[in-house]
Amino acid sequence: MPRPSLVVLPLLILSLAYFAQSYISPLGPAPHLGSGVALYGITFSSLIGYAQATLMAPFHANAQPGPEPQAPLTQLHSSPELPGAEFESEYPCEDTTDGNVDADADPRPRFKRRIIAVGDIHGDLVNAHRVLQMANVVDEDGFWTGNVDVLVQTGDIIDRGDDTIDLFEWMEELREKAHAMGGTVISLLGNHEWMNVIGDWRYVYPSEIDTFEGPSKRQEAVTTGWLANNWAANYTTAVRLPLHSMLGPPNTDYPPPEDGKYAHANAGPLSHAAFSFVHGGLAPSYPNLQPFPSAINNISASLLHKLRSRKPQPPPHPPHAYPGLPVGTTREESRLYGSDGPLWYRGWAEGDEAKMCAQVDQVLQKTGTRRMVMGHTPNMRSVVARCGGKVLIIDTGISHTYGGVLSALSIDYSLEPVKGGGWKEQEVVKALYAEQDDELLVHATRDLAADAIL
Ligand SMILES: *[C@@H]1O[C@H](CO)[C@@H](O)[C@H](O)[C@H]1NC(C)=O
Ligand SMILES: *[C@@H]1O[C@H](CO)[C@@H](O)[C@H](O)[C@H]1NC(C)=O
Repeated sequence: MPRPSLVVLPLLILSLAYFAQSYISPLGPAPHLGSGVALYGITFSSLIGYAQATLMAPFHANAQPGPEPQAPLTQLHSSPELPGAEFESEYPCEDTTDGNVDADADPRPRFKRRIIAVGDIHGDLVNAHRVLQMANVVDEDGFWTGNVDVLVQTGDIIDRGDDTIDLFEWMEELREKAHAMGGTVISLLGNHEWMNVIGDWRYVYPSEIDTFEGPSKRQEAVTTGWLANNWAANYTTAVRLPLHSMLGPPNTDYPPPEDGKYAHANAGPLSHAAFSFVHGGLAPSYPNLQPFPSAINNISASLLHKLRSRKPQPPPHPPHAYPGLPVGTTREESRLYGSDGPLWYRGWAEGDEAKMCAQVDQVLQKTGTRRMVMGHTPNMRSVVARCGGKVLIIDTGISHTYGGVLSALSIDYSLEPVKGGGWKEQEVVKALYAEQDDELLVHATRDLAADAIL
């Protein structure tokens, strides 16, 4: 056993290095940490953890690995002398490990997730297919490949093109196939889907109306019929997507309800390890940001229900008058559809970056997220990253109506154990393009103490 003085000096150096590294992390301190005191807390606990691991190491050399991790993760090999902390948190994912315990493996699981997000598609099946194939979400026949964990589409599939029916049917096929292969398809309503439920047909192509066999069948589909049923069942207006399954499934609320299953994880050091997705944007002035996203999605569900229950449905505009929102719409419901609501807001695309980033931080803080992704405001040349990649605007005018670039956003997240008991968290966010070089938008890493995860 080494003499205590020989242990303490390297530990001191290590903890100082750790502190420096946390401090200069490109991501900065976790939003809820925010102070040097809290960082010292982590440093101090990591020091204790490291000291324990060092001192205990010889006695653990022949120890059995800890309980099998409950996650479909690859084992990362490392020295058996530093067993580190066992990963005992509950994972909601399936256990796909095969039961053969490798005595040399770090018993702590490595977690990886690949997310692809796609913006406004506007009635163009050919370009939508090219984008999803380019991003490796589907194969050349349009089938789910299984190479991506989550696909998010941020709304505006309808209008300005003819392929409405095929696109929405394809999304349901993908949702089912993805689910069967352990993947997830997440769908959002854009302002154009809402316009159609309301009866605002200003951007509907006459040739598209023919694909529904005329205006009355189309109106039925987008209000009381199959397409609106589909929206009510499988689409929401806002999404919070935790990056790690430990934080819960998509749309786990922030702040977490006190007695909720994921309350502990969503209050800890990974509390903001999540992205938000809405079609337009989450304005700082918008009053229903918390709990996120259920406050928005509940208002969205009740407005959708009121619109679909109108009897008779008002005739579409044009040629008829704009029907507006139904009698009995609440203030919250009309605000949802207002200019600073999540469907129409353009402030993050148009605002002065020097002034807006502090407000971006406020919204991220409130919604339990690190970055926010949105469509709605097209930039025909590229995905737009603002405020250091905290704002990601992914509408690049994919539909041939616009003639923009074919793009998708990829998010690769990983959390892996490091020797000595800590963890390394990594986010790599890229813009993928069909006809130009991909672009790295964010590469953020963060070191966490062993006990930060438990
Ligand atoms: C919603 O998605 C589920 C799962 O894929 C599917 O079974 C269901 O038919 C969809 N509902 C509607 C109304 O489209
Ligand atoms: C949203 O609706 C669900 C189901 O009705 C309810 O349990 C939940 O408390 C609501 N949340 C908010 C924030 O209104």
